[in-house]
Amino acid sequence: MDPTAYPVNDFGPAMRGMVIGAVGILHVFLAQFAIGGGFVLTYVQWLAGRGVPDARRFLDSFFKYLVLVSFVTGAMTGVAMWLTTIQVGPRTIGLMVDEFHWIWAVEWCCFTVEIVAGYMFLRFGARLPDSARLKLLATYSVASFGSLFWVNGILSWQLTPGAWIGGGDVWAGFFNPSFWPSLLYRAAVSSTLGALAAIAVVNTMDIDRAARHALIARVSRLLVPMAAMPLLGVWFMAVIPADSRAWITGGSVAMSMFLAMAAGASLLIGAYALVGILWRRLYVSGATAALLLALAFGATAAGEFVREGARKPYTIRQVLFSNAITPGEVARMRRDGSVTGDPYPLRDAARYPTPQLVLGAHVVRVQCSACHTMSGANGLVHLGGGWTPDQLRLNIAKLQRTKAFMPPFAGPATEVEAVAQLIAWEAAGAPDTWPVSDDPAVLAQIQRWLDEAGTQPAPERPEARREVRP
Ligand code: HEC
Repeated sequence: MDPTAYPVNDFGPAMRGMVIGAVGILHVFLAQFAIGGGFVLTYVQWLAGRGVPDARRFLDSFFKYLVLVSFVTGAMTGVAMWLTTIQVGPRTIGLMVDEFHWIWAVEWCCFTVEIVAGYMFLRFGARLPDSARLKLLATYSVASFGSLFWVNGILSWQLTPGAWIGGGDVWAGFFNPSFWPSLLYRAAVSSTLGALAAIAVVNTMDIDRAARHALIARVSRLLVPMAAMPLLGVWFMAVIPADSRAWITGGSVAMSMFLAMAAGASLLIGAYALVGILWRRLYVSGATAALLLALAFGATAAGEFVREGARKPYTIRQVLFSNAITPGEVARMRRDGSVTGDPYPLRDAARYPTPQLVLGAHVVRVQCSACHTMSGANGLVHLGGGWTPDQLRLNIAKLQRTKAFMPPFAGPATEVEAVAQLIAWEAAGAPDTWPVSDDPAVLAQIQRWLDEAGTQPAPERPEARREVRP
């Protein structure tokens, strides 16, 4: 497939990666809450069947509505995920659909069962005996966990495709090295979110404080899986590629800080849950539970940011760079250009005084805009606007050496020069006239830099030197 088969959308000041990140974080949080809510409902129904006081009231109070809201909003943001990923990364999504077609279908079946069971409980639950209610809720829980199970295989494959690379089959990709740690980690997070929401709901119930306290003590048991999270986190870190690990543990300050925030927030929640709630049996007020939930949202957001970021420069490791170019295509594009044959015109071509600057803007759209804007988020003008002309040329020509989490530049010397001129022009305040730069000596120097850098990703990635699947 030609990388220009799909248009590269221009979101103005918003970086494309951020667009998908924002929707993704919200969706993951809501979806995990819907799963954890299922765990809580099933567990409390089981208690109700054994005659635990107030359990049935808890189920019929608004916890079930809370779960309903989360699966409605979960479904809405889920569809939004498809829409945004198709806008932002159509080639990535195309490959995910190609490889895992039937797994998506199975995931959809799980989701359907989840919705039907959840709705049946809402509609008929009040009239059913405890045993039937338990079956319905258990079905809801198993199905919602099932959809996590299936989608988790596909998402973890993006970061650690494992034995799938080099001809492994779809199951090798599905049960990839980070499959189990991320599945179990997400299950623990889901359970935590469900328990915290349940505690908040118990606080709204019209029963005396001692009864509330007793109910809180019971639903708090669903916080116990949190104890395994540090271990699961270490397991996950151990199986991800060495360079991803290096870059989220110091290699990139932003990534490392987000990781620290996710770990720190989780640790705080975990410490309070295990020591305060489970061991010292403190009474947890609704406000405290809401605060802990907010903290958990922060941890989820930071964690998802790190997980997405750790894949750079790939969206599917060793297979597809973040800018939708494959490693195997770079050499050809070095020769033929990255925008030759792109049928989609620039939105604002008239803004640029020379064809060279138009070319530069086109190249930036195709090769850089997945991670950079011109002067907004991660803006190229902020990063390289103050550099000397040769410094710009050298760093762009040797992109994968400038920062190992950038893909190699995939165009000829003329395109490097066009991008360098564009950044310089923008940094100069976008004047009405700008000289065309076509000195053969300059282009020859850029070509030498391109050749020195080669067409492979950064050499610190030993596995990248192995053959890649086209
Ligand atoms: C996979 C994502 C990604 C792609 C694609 C990408 N970059 Fe980057 N680039 C980054 C990140 C992340 C940084 C680090 C920003 C920071 O340090 O704050 C960066 C930094 C830079 C810097 C500053 C380097 C330094 O050492 O300070 C320049 C210049 C740059 N990129 C240019 C480009 C150009 C030009 C393209 C397109 C040809 C491009 N990048 C494509 C992610 C990317």
